[in-house]
Amino acid sequence: MNRKKKIVVLTGAGISAESGLKTFRDSNGLWENHRVEDVATPEAFARDPDLVYRFYNLRRAQLAEVNPNPAHDALVTLENHFQDDFLLVTQNVDDLHERAGSKRVLHMHGELKSAKCSKTHKAVRWEEDLTAMNLCDCCALQNEMRPDIVWFGEMPYFMDEIYQALFQADVFIAIGTSGIVYPAAGFVAEANSSNTHTVEINLEPSSVQSQFDEQHYGKAGQVLPDYVASLIGE
Ligand code: APR
Repeated sequence: MNRKKKIVVLTGAGISAESGLKTFRDSNGLWENHRVEDVATPEAFARDPDLVYRFYNLRRAQLAEVNPNPAHDALVTLENHFQDDFLLVTQNVDDLHERAGSKRVLHMHGELKSAKCSKTHKAVRWEEDLTAMNLCDCCALQNEMRPDIVWFGEMPYFMDEIYQALFQADVFIAIGTSGIVYPAAGFVAEANSSNTHTVEINLEPSSVQSQFDEQHYGKAGQVLPDYVASLIGE
């Protein structure tokens, strides 16, 4: 493949599944035994902040127990090959892409290792547990720091940058995402509208599988390294 091609990759929870992190929709709609409405909405945080703090503290602590898998590594290989013509957009809030070595990563749904002020939205790197007692840098008030996670009903990050990259992309690859949650589920349609070649790599067909030009089904850790090798070798 010509080195000048531009590649945009979207990842979802499926790419981290083989590292040992649960996906969102694999156990009766529950995420680590919680309904998303109880832990992943602004209303849930207003209603029961301690539950929400606890939930994300556990998720953050869990990162120390998991490692990137061959699918994360394959995306580093892809980035090393295409360099500035490569962009990785992830819905994941874990840090496995960075720990594998990916550099150009946009976390459209936020990050576990970040916390932000509810009032000013100023974000800071956060490695420890977060509680209502933590003061923010800007207002120095308690009860204002929250997980820097984009909850249901909130606007994902970097949307202008992502749509711009999709518009310019020659290849769009979605990996390990169910195609249920928008706007990410709409990226394939956006890419198709500018004649981008679209590829789905997933354990099973996603909700938007018919919109992709090419599909590969299986575990990302097994399918993606071969797919990347073929893309680079073209
Ligand atoms: N390899 C590839 N795909 C896999 C693997 C694997 N080893 N294991 C599971 N999958 C697939 C599943 O078949 C499913 O289609 O990954 C997908 C995971 O889907 P979801 O759990 O819905 O995760 P995701 O698409 O990332 O969710 C999107 O929803 O809850 C919100 O904000 C949250 O970012 C999240 C968003």
